[in-house]
Amino acid sequence: PSLEKEFLPMYFGWFLSKRSSEILRKAGQAFLDELGSLKAFKKESKYFAYAIEDPKIKIDLTSYFVKRPPGVLHCTTKYTEFGKAAGAEEYAQQEAVKASYGKGFTLSISALFITTKTVGARVELSEQQLLLWPGDADKILPTDNLPKGSRAHITLGCANGVEAVQTGLDLLEFVKLEKAGNKGDEVGEIGGGKLLYFDNGMWMLILSKKIDVKAIFSGYYG
Ligand code: 2AM
Repeated sequence: PSLEKEFLPMYFGWFLSKRSSEILRKAGQAFLDELGSLKAFKKESKYFAYAIEDPKIKIDLTSYFVKRPPGVLHCTTKYTEFGKAAGAEEYAQQEAVKASYGKGFTLSISALFITTKTVGARVELSEQQLLLWPGDADKILPTDNLPKGSRAHITLGCANGVEAVQTGLDLLEFVKLEKAGNKGDEVGEIGGGKLLYFDNGMWMLILSKKIDVKAIFSGYYG
């Protein structure tokens, strides 16, 4: 009998537990709240189309990043577009992918970041987790040569008119700056860790204590 061709998901990824999603959302919220009332951030708020220097006024970044993922959060590994994306079948057929499907993982969050377009969490993948990372994801330009897993992230929010795919591209911009030797300006310690500013409205909070989140590797069918 001829079998139907396997139906591929919209994307593969790690889907956080409800509890881990809540913890990470809260951490992101606290980061936005603190950043919005920070003097150094207000000084640079023009990138976010604000012009607020008044120390009494807080910039409402929660309203700025108005598009937030509903339900549980996730870290996309491969965007397969129901099989239409380049390399989709090859990815789905890998032993590591098949063996890990439906299995539980602990992901380590090392930083939170915002740009004028997105807010996200940086994920540091282990050797084992990197086996599930596609070979073609860590590039903005075809010529980019960044470490495997550079793009690994969890989208927490997007500005009006911005699609979620942007968060990973924004994280790659940070990684490219780091690779070029730009370590960012150390603005200081805020709740949760060390705040770095990379200019152009790019801020990163290096967490003093990494956040471990529980997640299931699976596919999203829409
Ligand atoms: P995200 O991983 O940054 O959140 C559905 O759109 C999901 O697939 C989103 O979570 C989104 O971004 C991700 N996504 C959409 N288009 C993508 C693409 N071209 N490459 C990688 N991930 C993509």
